[in-house]
Amino acid sequence: MFRNTDMQAQKSLLRSGILVLIMHARGMPDTKVNALGKSHSRKALNVHPRHYAHWLDALMETLDRHDPEFSPTLEMAWRNTLQPIIDKISGMYED
Ligand code: HEM
Repeated sequence: MFRNTDMQAQKSLLRSGILVLIMHARGMPDTKVNALGKSHSRKALNVHPRHYAHWLDALMETLDRHDPEFSPTLEMAWRNTLQPIIDKISGMYED
């Protein structure tokens, strides 16, 4: 499934993806989020909307494991911030 087998490249993809979400949450325009919706849609990478919950859970698990200051309050803040953007991306599945 992953065309990119290099760990460093995967890390860089993940980093830029999370950055898009954060920049968008901070008020950047829709352009990059729409591009992700398009690249992950059925006709392109074909990422079914059900996979995004796992993506978000994995991100929260990673924060919990690596950030000593992580807390249920912070988790809720992350989830509340990212969910609407994720809904937008996964909502473009059939476009
Ligand atoms: C909101 C969550 C996600 C973000 C921000 C994100 C971000 C990105 C970015 C920036 C790229 C590279 C550029 C592009 O192709 O558009 C990418 C590629 C990719 N994403 Fe996602 N992604 C997300 C969720 C997912 C999920 C849930 C899956 C599958 C379970 C997935 C599978 C892939 C695959 C297979 C690629 C291609 C990788 C490659 O070319 O090596 N993504 N993603």
